[in-house]
Amino acid sequence: MLVRVHNAAMFDPSLCTEEEIARFVAAFYAKVRKDERLGPVFDAHVDDWDHHLAKLTDFWSSMLRGTRRYAGTPMARHAALPDLDETLFARWLELFGQTAHEQDNAAMATRAETLARRIAQSLWLGYQMQHHPDRLARDLPCA
Ligand code: HEM
Repeated sequence: MLVRVHNAAMFDPSLCTEEEIARFVAAFYAKVRKDERLGPVFDAHVDDWDHHLAKLTDFWSSMLRGTRRYAGTPMARHAALPDLDETLFARWLELFGQTAHEQDNAAMATRAETLARRIAQSLWLGYQMQHHPDRLARDLPCA
C-alpha cells in the first residue's frame, strides 16, 4: 500500500514573505542587543551584525518557508558559548514572543514561536549534555 506523507504543513512558502521574516528577525535582535543579560552575550560573540542578521533570516526562512537557505550547526555554536542556563533561554524566548506578538502576520508569528520553543528546548538539552554530563538534564520551564 502506498502511504503518502503529506508534509506541506511544516514548510509553507505561503505562510509569510522574506520581507516579513527579515523584519521580524531585525526587530528581535534589536531587543536582544538592548537586553541587560542577553546583550553582553551577543556583544562578546557577534562582530558583524549584518552578517548575523542575514544568517538568522536564512535560518528562519528555512524553518518557516522550507527554502533551505541555511546550512549551519546551531547546536555546536551554542554548545561553545559559556554559561548558558535556563534563565537566559527563558529571557530569549520571552523577547522572541514579545517580538512575535508585534508582527502583523499572526500565522507566521505563531508558527515561529512554536518552533522557537522546540528548538530552544533541544538546544538546552544538547547544551547540558556537553556542559553538565553528570547531572540529569532539566527541561526549560517555559517551553
Ligand atoms: C540562551 C539563549 C540563546 C543565546 C544566548 C544565543 C546566542 C547566540 C550567539 C551568541 C550566537 C552567535 C554564535 C557565533 O557566531 O559564534 C548565536 C547563533 C545562532 N543562534 Fe542563538 N542563542 C540562543 C538561543 C537560540 C535559539 C532558541 C535559536 C533558535 C530558535 C537560536 C538560533 C541561532 C542560530 C541559527 C545561530 C547561527 C548559528 C550559525 O553560526 O550557523 N539561538 N546564538
